[in-house]
Parts: sequence; C-alpha cells; structure tokens
Amino acid sequence: MTLNGRRILLGVTGGIAAYKTPELVRRLREAGADVRVVMSAGAEAFITPLTLQAVSGHRVRTHLLDAEAEAGMGHIELARWADQVLIAPATAQVIARLAHGFADDLLSTLVLATEAGVWIAPAMNRVMWDARAVRENCRVLEARGMHVLGPGVGDQACGEQGAGRMLEPDEIVGQLRGREPVLAGLRFVVTAGPTHEPIDPVRFLGNRSSGRMGFAVAEALAEAGARVDLVAGPVRLATPPGVERFDVATAEEMLSAVSARIDHADGFVGVAAVADYRPASLAGDKIKKSGQPLTLQLVENPDILATVARRRPKPFVVGFAAETRDLESAARGKLKAKGADLIAANRVGQNRGFDTEDNTLEVFGADCHWSLGNRSKRDLARELVAIIAERMQPKEHRNQQ
Ligand code: CTP
Repeated sequence: MTLNGRRILLGVTGGIAAYKTPELVRRLREAGADVRVVMSAGAEAFITPLTLQAVSGHRVRTHLLDAEAEAGMGHIELARWADQVLIAPATAQVIARLAHGFADDLLSTLVLATEAGVWIAPAMNRVMWDARAVRENCRVLEARGMHVLGPGVGDQACGEQGAGRMLEPDEIVGQLRGREPVLAGLRFVVTAGPTHEPIDPVRFLGNRSSGRMGFAVAEALAEAGARVDLVAGPVRLATPPGVERFDVATAEEMLSAVSARIDHADGFVGVAAVADYRPASLAGDKIKKSGQPLTLQLVENPDILATVARRRPKPFVVGFAAETRDLESAARGKLKAKGADLIAANRVGQNRGFDTEDNTLEVFGADCHWSLGNRSKRDLARELVAIIAERMQPKEHRNQQ
C-alpha cells in the first residue's frame, strides 16, 4: 500500500520529538502523500514553521483566528481537505485536549471538524505515558476510533526500558500504510485460558484465568501477519479475526492439541494458566460427602511449554509467568528451567493480573528486559509481539541450532 495522492494533515505539538517532523514530512511525501502542517504554539518552541513550510511545500498554519490564512484555505476547508489527520508528536497535553473535545486552538478544532481518520503518535517521558490520566485519555480516543501509534519502547538495546518514545518517521509512515506484516509467512501456536482438571462428573480443579491476555496475543500475532492456531481452555471469549481456534479442557488435551499443530510452527506462546496438577483418578460418579475429611491425590501434569522448547528444530518459545512475589528471579528461573526464549511476567493477586482489563508485563530474555507499564491487554500484546518479531532470528539460522 502506498500513500499515493493521500492528503495528510500533520499536527505538530510541543514535544522534543518535533525535531523529527521535517524528516517525517519528507518520508510522507516520498511515499506519495500531499502534506499540510498545522503547529501548536508549543511546537514552535522546538521547530520553526519555516522549516516545515520548506519541506511540505505549503504554508504552515499556527493560529485559529488568522484572518489572512482563513482567506486562503479556511479551517473547515482544511478539515475537509484531509484524508487522514496525523498528530506527531502528540504530547500528553494534546491527548487530554482531544479527549475532552476542546476547540480553542487550530489543531483541536480541526480534529473536531474533520471526518477523516485521526492517528496520534504520542511522545513523552515513560512515567507520564504510564500515568492513569494519560492511559484513560488514550482509551477514550481509541474508543472513538482514533489510532494510537506506539509509542516505541526504545531501541531494544539490552537493559531496562519503558515506552514513551515517538515512533521513528519510517515506522509512522509504515503504520499509516497499514499494519506492517512483520510476521508474515510465520506460523504460531498460542495457548490461552485456564485448564479444568475433572475430579468427578460435576467438579473440576481450575483457576481464575479469563483467557483475555492469550486471546489478545493471538490477535496481535494475526495482525502482524502470522498464521495463528489458538488452543484455548474453557473461556467465554470470541475468536479473534484471522485466528484458528481449538477448544480443550484439560492440560493433557491442551498438550495433544499443541503437539498436533506445532510441527510446522515458527513460534509458540504459552499464555495458558495450565493446572500444574490433576486428580490422580477421575471418579466415575459424583463424590458424596461422608462426614470424614477427604484427600484428593494429585499427579503432575505435563509441562507444555517445556515440552515444546525441547523440540528440535526449536520454535521461538515465549512463556508467561504469573507471580505473587520475587517476580524477576522467578521469571528468570522459568526462562532457564523451561528453555524459553522470552518470559513475560506479571504480578497476580490483590485484584491484579487475572480476570482484569489492564495489566503490566515485565519481559525477560537471557540478556534483556523490557518493562511494559499498565495498559490494556491488547496494547501489551501488540508490544510483546513487536518484541517477539525483533527477537526472532531468521528461520534458517534457528534451524541450524
Ligand atoms: N505452562 C505449561 N504447562 C504447564 C505449566 C505451565 O505450558 N503444565 C506454561 C504456562 O503456559 C506459562 C509458563 O509455563 O507460559 C509458566 O507457568 P507457571 O504456572 O507460572 O509456571 P510453573 O512452571 O507452573 O511454576 P510454578 O507454578 O511453580 O510457579
């Protein structure tokens, strides 16, 4: 997909990443777009309108009540002209203003007056990006159909990182063209949800996993172009678009469903909260109370993740770890013990993690660590998939290991 003939209205607001916008305008124009620029007052502290006029080839607008500019192309006309509105960088301030429908400067007025799709590329300090107000404002904008691009999680150099960096001009152009199919041609198997281990015909051992994180991962992988087989424990969730789903109940059923599909897979993401133990025997009839204590004997279930990680050639293996304490050491321990390439760990308990909308993830590789702050499971899944795409070695190389 190219941007040929696409009319893009670029709104630049006051963040340091504004210095990248001349490059962004050039890239958009190289991709075939016609670009007109509107700057907020804050943006002018970082870059001059003259620079953006030179690269866009059009006069840059900065004020709403500018009689001369209105005599040329009025703001309503400009709002109608646009096929696409892109705000980059988008500061916490403009995100808040858009969320509340302000119309006291040119850019916010244009956003209200346009019927074009709106894309915003946030840029801010990672703690600000994680602030509840910003998270909630972004959620409001997304619920209204706006698209939030990034922000980036850094250049993936090893060491702790957080999200907040504006996506690079090339990445923004790529996203406007349509989601980059970074995993096109690759196959993934994903497990999700809890398992139910039957005790008798009416009872089972289970856990509180809702399956939402696993379904979000499957969806994000499919969005990135991968072919996805989702092996789901008992959950009440709709199958994400483009994903093939197989329903199972027990850990053993989950293992056989995974084994049947893993042969040609390039990657495996184990998000399921697999029961570690199952009752040693299944009572044929409902167990009656006897007035005496009852002991259930449990036997260990197979470890699906570790089983997949032992395969040769080995797919790229990502595990999840739900921990109530010592998150990092537990996650690193699992990374090694299970032979995974990445472990995404989250804290559970005290209303965190399971059966909630939002989550946080700490992603560990043998020599790397990413902190993905509090955000929707969907956003977390997309960021995790970006990390997976980056960390997966070319297939040929993997198969030689
Ligand atoms: N997992 C699995 N099969 C199992 C148990 C776990 O595939 N029988 C996977 C999960 O899908 C997850 C990862 O292993 O990706 C971590 O699961 P977790 O239950 O947290 O780890 P355990 O090895 O069970 O360790 P513990 O319960 O002792 O913390």
